[in-house]
Amino acid sequence: MQAATISFDRFNVLADDEAQARIRAARARLGDKAVLLCHHYQRADVYQHADLTGDSLKLARLASQTDAQYIVFCGVHFMAEVADILSKPSQIAILPDLAAGCSMADMASLAKVERCWRELGEVLGAPDERITPVTYINSAADLKAFCGEHGGIVCTSTNAPTILDWAFSRREKVLFFPDQHLGRWTGFKKGIPLEQMVVWDPDLEYGGLTPEQIHNAKILLWKGHCSVHQMFQPGHIERWRKQHPDGFVISHPESSLEVCRNSDYVGSTEYIINTISAAAANTHWLVGTELNLVSRLAGEMKPQGKTVEFMAPTVCMCSTMQRIDPQHLAWTLENLAEGKVVNQIRVPAHEAELARIALDRMLAVS
Ligand code: 13P
Ligand code: SF4
Repeated sequence: MQAATISFDRFNVLADDEAQARIRAARARLGDKAVLLCHHYQRADVYQHADLTGDSLKLARLASQTDAQYIVFCGVHFMAEVADILSKPSQIAILPDLAAGCSMADMASLAKVERCWRELGEVLGAPDERITPVTYINSAADLKAFCGEHGGIVCTSTNAPTILDWAFSRREKVLFFPDQHLGRWTGFKKGIPLEQMVVWDPDLEYGGLTPEQIHNAKILLWKGHCSVHQMFQPGHIERWRKQHPDGFVISHPESSLEVCRNSDYVGSTEYIINTISAAAANTHWLVGTELNLVSRLAGEMKPQGKTVEFMAPTVCMCSTMQRIDPQHLAWTLENLAEGKVVNQIRVPAHEAELARIALDRMLAVS
């Protein structure tokens, strides 16, 4: 049996610089037993400790490739679940603060997706023959398992176009959850008319749709969104372009269709970083994604004379990812250095098996 873990109470009151010193000391003790994976939205005082960074797709691949005993995930809950599902049985995935969830992922639950599937079946007959369920990776493991079980697949913001092609090569319709914006933008880029992409409201019977709307739909878009990306508005772009007529606008596809349509480039966090990094010196950029990433990029691009500005006038951080602070990281690592595992993320075996089917399908085609 594992000895009692070190309580968080003593870490909660640590000054930031002391927490930083203790992170460094614990990491030195752990050596290559632990790998620190950080999403690009992670706050700077944690991001600086990353061994590996990436968008959701890259992090999923990295988690499946590392040999470290402990995968310490500085991201949000669904990312640590993916790390658990894709890593070896002997590896342990850890989320330094269990409260680091994703508000978008919480907008779809298994009970509501199963009800949707049942209701779609009543209208269309045999949903497993007519609809491919596609879940954005920003979703709980049981929804990935649902997709694995029903011939569906997982997608990320990087590979959504390829995944949609895969989904339509199998069945005539797609149920896309939980992010309506990523689904709509991806369908729009493929030329699917907007009226054939209808919003399924999980709180209403039959999603609030008529049988005719369901029959005519190519994509049923779950009524979910990201609270950070919904802040960006076309008006922000319009105003900025007046001041920077030669500038470029780049957005994450969790932003609304209107924001994406008015952007010069749209893509994942990794794509945003790579595009601006590869751009010519002295160019100007307006970026529609989370503030920690944009601030870091602004600092990195400064020496090349590139300006990088945040799209919204208000502060839009991923407040849940922000919960992973130096204090929680220090607490996690000190426990691990003592051989005590805290905050392990463990997906139940049967669920993990089915979710892995949907994730492996994604990794095979992307
Ligand atoms: P990326 O896969 O583009 O990093 O997106 C993750 C995310 O949660 C964006 O809000
Ligand atoms: Fe979830 Fe939005 Fe945070 Fe991304 S930015 S992890 S979608 S809440």
